[in-house]
Order: sequence, then structure tokens, then C-alpha cells
Amino acid sequence: MKSKMLTAHYSILTTQYSILESMKLTLNIWRQKNASAKGKIETYKIDGVEPDMSFLEMLDVLNEGFVAKDQEPVVFDHDCREGICGACSLQINGEPHGPDRGIATCQLHMRKFNDGDTIVIEPFRATAFPVIKDLMVDRSAFDRIQQAGGYISVNTSGNTQDANNIPISKEDSDLSFNAATCIGCGACVAACKNASAMLFTAAKVSQFALLPQGKLEANKRVLAMVEQMDKEGFGNCTNTGACEIECPKGISLENIARMNREFMSATTKG
Ligand code: SF4
Ligand code: FES
Repeated sequence: MKSKMLTAHYSILTTQYSILESMKLTLNIWRQKNASAKGKIETYKIDGVEPDMSFLEMLDVLNEGFVAKDQEPVVFDHDCREGICGACSLQINGEPHGPDRGIATCQLHMRKFNDGDTIVIEPFRATAFPVIKDLMVDRSAFDRIQQAGGYISVNTSGNTQDANNIPISKEDSDLSFNAATCIGCGACVAACKNASAMLFTAAKVSQFALLPQGKLEANKRVLAMVEQMDKEGFGNCTNTGACEIECPKGISLENIARMNREFMSATTKG
């Protein structure tokens, strides 16, 4: 009896072990020397990829190979590697942040792929996000949208009143917090057929519009941020919803509806 149990245990272990076997992959990666150079897809083979590696760790291994051979590593953006900063930004098999949902590229694991797979890795594509090198794009257009109005004027001189002195409904504080979880990654733009930045801008407008502290400058803010968004060359929203699906933070399309209402109201008040 005991030996039967041991055999069963062993077979579970070997099954798990076989699931965790390393993989061989073909990587089709966009290489581009600089912003003005013509880029192209280059093909690389990689083996020994562990299913528990993150996607960026897999690229680290590839790059270590390039460095060892005195070749140029693939340039890609990353920082926190835990879904917080919004720096990572890869288009993987045609999807911003790859095939998983609700995560950024840095949280994607190789177990989502199979041995023998070919993976196409490109930069986020949008006129307003020009390629800097290889897989790294310039997303400073987002910074300029933020600078146009994504702030509130409050006294931070040490006389600030306690946050609890201002009553805010649970519903509004939750909606505002959800909007504030946008990490500014740009996946919404990369997913959109119009390269629209409406989801990002709407999240930034909403997080203030929903709170009393944000009401004072609400009209000025929405007009300035939308104006800057248009100036940067982003497209318009045609309600496809791809942005919401690909957003690693699940930012809702309702924010776009809220921004449109805010915009209409600000325009009327002129
Ligand atoms: S709305 Fe979502 S996809 Fe767009 S920048 Fe914010 S977190 Fe990224
Ligand atoms: S590296 Fe910071 S969110 Fe991915």
C-alpha cells in the first residue's frame, strides 16, 4: 500500500517536473538603430528558457548572449519589474503586454508559451510614440498631457488639513482610486486602431474630477489635457474598447464617458 502511494506521489512529481521543462523558442524581434533608421525584424533562437522566468528575464538571457559575443543587446524599457511604474512596453504577438490579461509585460511569465513557439516582439506602435531604439519608444507625450493639467493646486506648506476633514463618498473614492491606478504605460494607445490616448487622459482627468479637491480646476484641466492630447497627434476614440481589454490596470471605458461629460460641461461654461 505504502509503495503504491509512493509510486503515485513520484508520478505526480514527474508530471509536474515535465510541465516545468525548459523551452526552445524562436524570437522575431524588431531591431532599429535609432529614431531615424529603418528598422526590421531579426530572428534569434534561444533555448533553456524556464517556464518560471518572466518575459523580461528571458530577454535578459538573450542579451547576456549578445554581450558575451560582443554584439549589441536588444534595447527595451523596464524599471520596477512588478507592474507599478509603467516603463515596460512590448507588443508581443500583436498584443500590448502579451497574451495575459490584467498585467504589464514585466509580470508576464514564460509558462504562457510552449516549447517550439515563435514569438514576435515589437515596440508599441503609434506616431505619437516614436521609436528611440529597438523596442524602446518615446512616451514623453504622456508627460506633456499630464503637465497640461494633471495636478491640483493645494497648500503643501505644512498647513494641509487632515484628509478626513473632507467627506468623500465611498463610491467616488473607489472610482477615483481605480482611475489613479493607471501606470501610464501606453498599452491603450498601442491597442487602439486609431492610436487614441483617450483612456489614459480620461483616467488622469477622472481621478481628480471625482474628488472635491479636484473640482476647483476641473474645467481648466479637462480643456488643457484634451488640447494637449490632440496636439501630440493621438487619434480619436471610436468606442472599440480594445484599450480597456489590453489595459494592465483594467481602467474602464466609463472614464472616457466621464471625460467627455467634463469636456462638454467645460466647453459650455466656456
Ligand atoms: S489606461 Fe491602462 S493601458 Fe492606458 S496608460 Fe493607463 S494603465 Fe496603461
Ligand atoms: S517594469 Fe514597471 S510596470 Fe513593468
